[in-house]
Amino acid sequence: MKIDILTLFPNMFDGFLGESIIKRAIDTEKVQVGVHNIRDYAKDKHKRVDDTPYGGGAGMIMMCQPIFDAVESIRNKKTKVVLLTPQGVLYNQKLATTLSKEEHLIFLCGHYEGFDERVTSIVDMEISIGDYVLTGGELPSMVVADSVIRLLPGVIDDKAHQIESFYDNLLDHPNYTKPRTFKGMRVPDILLTGHHQNIDKWRQTERIIKTMQKRPDLITKKVTYCLVKDARIGNIAIINLLILDGMDITPRNNAKRNDVISVTKMILIEPSFIKKVIKTKVEKKLKIFIERMHELDEDDDSTSAQLLIFDIEKYKKYLIDHYIGYVGLDYGDLIIKKIQLLLNELMIRKHLHINNSSKETRGRSM
Ligand SMILES: C[S@@+](CC[C@H](N)C(=O)[O-])C[C@H]1O[C@@H](n2cnc3c(N)ncnc32)[C@H](O)[C@@H]1O
Repeated sequence: MKIDILTLFPNMFDGFLGESIIKRAIDTEKVQVGVHNIRDYAKDKHKRVDDTPYGGGAGMIMMCQPIFDAVESIRNKKTKVVLLTPQGVLYNQKLATTLSKEEHLIFLCGHYEGFDERVTSIVDMEISIGDYVLTGGELPSMVVADSVIRLLPGVIDDKAHQIESFYDNLLDHPNYTKPRTFKGMRVPDILLTGHHQNIDKWRQTERIIKTMQKRPDLITKKVTYCLVKDARIGNIAIINLLILDGMDITPRNNAKRNDVISVTKMILIEPSFIKKVIKTKVEKKLKIFIERMHELDEDDDSTSAQLLIFDIEKYKKYLIDHYIGYVGLDYGDLIIKKIQLLLNELMIRKHLHINNSSKETRGRSM
């Protein structure tokens, strides 16, 4: 990868490029970094790069000409030109990963009151490193360059990225080094067991817990499904709250749980869908009961009516125990009323039938 930085203050980059991991990445040719002074491209005999704003107002505005010429002389067909500006998209690790896959990046650093708006016509992307205003784009371009360079293959241990904050939309787990106890604070026992599987499990849990505590906004649907029970955040199933965008998970009360439940698959059902399915089922069942009632003709003996009453009573109980919670009280009340009407009707029929048969019996015996 090649990164070219356009700035009015090239010296600011000396420390950044001359130390530590970034220096090593340059020395080992994992990345090439060029720093260019925008002033070198000014055609004005005084090498002017900024001027007063049209319409008046405070501060100076960086002119188009030096920037257009600088970009034109450096860019190629594959270049992505990035403008550092507080008005850009908020920078994050995902964007760093995207940029790390580019071949050539140009970073445009503003200063003073920023750029002439027409500069935006030659850029591919506008990036802000946060909702605050700095004096210049030099620090933001270092921030972006640093986060991109460390993602390049071979710059740091590639596996390290997978446990870092923002990978998988989670923060890093807590880390400890020697000594085991410092000012009374002990390293968690699990890390001293040498049991890597359990340690991985613990770390993954801690990542979720930390993210829930510090940056719940990070947890999205992409997170690995893992239900966690932990006293610090409540009882159980911490990721579900956000994963489901506000829907509740109600783990079955008697389900056996360990502290961590890893699952490979989760089926998420919209409550409104459950409601719809239940309503359809209930309506169907009521229809069947009504049909059965019509089939009971007057000659029928009371046993069939009694059997139907028994079935309806059973279904009513089932409804109250299992379905009312899903369909809501209004609909639940309505259904129970309908069922009660059916039952009343059946009782009357049964009563009539018993009366008729006893009259018949009495008539025959007279
Ligand atoms: C004082 S700022 C200009 C701010 C501009 N007038 C505005 O309000 O949007 C000067 C330069 O610093 C850089 N800069 C300042 N804050 C930044 C941020 N949060 N992210 C990226 N660049 C920033 C930009 O390059 C900008 O052109």
